Amino acid sequence: MKTARPSRLEGKLIVVEGIDGSGKSTQIHLLEKWLNYKGISVFKSEWNSSEMVKEITSRGKKKGLLTPTTFSLLHATDFADRYERNILPLLRAGYFVLADRYVYTAFVRDIVRGCNPEWVRKVYDFSIEPDITFYFKVPVDTAVDRILVGRPKLKYYEAGMDLNLSNDPYESYRIFQGRIIDQYDSMAEPEGFTVIDGTLSIEEQQRTVRRVISPLLPQAVKGKK
Ligand SMILES: Nc1ncnc2c1ncn2[C@@H]1O[C@H](COP(=O)(O)OP(=O)(O)O)[C@@H](O)[C@H]1O
Ligand SMILES: [Mg+2]
Repeated sequence: MKTARPSRLEGKLIVVEGIDGSGKSTQIHLLEKWLNYKGISVFKSEWNSSEMVKEITSRGKKKGLLTPTTFSLLHATDFADRYERNILPLLRAGYFVLADRYVYTAFVRDIVRGCNPEWVRKVYDFSIEPDITFYFKVPVDTAVDRILVGRPKLKYYEAGMDLNLSNDPYESYRIFQGRIIDQYDSMAEPEGFTVIDGTLSIEEQQRTVRRVISPLLPQAVKGKK
């Protein structure tokens, strides 16, 4: 992303990306606790969570009515709502904003669904570049094994069934997630992701996350362990 960072933004934007089951929410939760402990104002924002757009998105998804473009634009609307309502104002107010998925999730999914990559990027070009984007990289089997424990049924779009990859939702899901990994991998360098080996233990990964975040902490709290 090319969007310049307005100098008036006091806060920091930390993003976690990776496929379902890569460990994003686990790591961001631990990071949030650590930052809270250090007395830093933290706000967490999750993908697809805008109250305004939630209902229509879930209605469209249930009926399997969405085309790649309408699917993309609904998520963009959700993002824009959260961005203008929460993310940007809180960055201006000096918060550490932790985003559990950011525009890269839209890029990878929409591109895999066949949207034009330049078009998708343009849709989101109002958004600022994060201070740090962690990419939790895991093999598809590791993530699938983690996510499918106790969750026998995959949802239509979650499994990528709209792409006609396979009639078997589990097979479709694997192929779909594999393609998403390819997209993330190809973005890692140009977008400047901090790549974390998502197969390591939760503790090991969190140590790396904290080390990478440390230089962003205000001087006054840096020393506090
Ligand atoms: N490093 C890890 N090793 C083993 N299991 C993990 C690890 N990180 C997360 N998990 C488990 O995998 C599942 C998915 O993790 P989660 O953080 O929800 O992933 P995501 O938010 O990327 O979908 C959870 O049950 C979590 O406890
Ligand atoms: Mg999660």
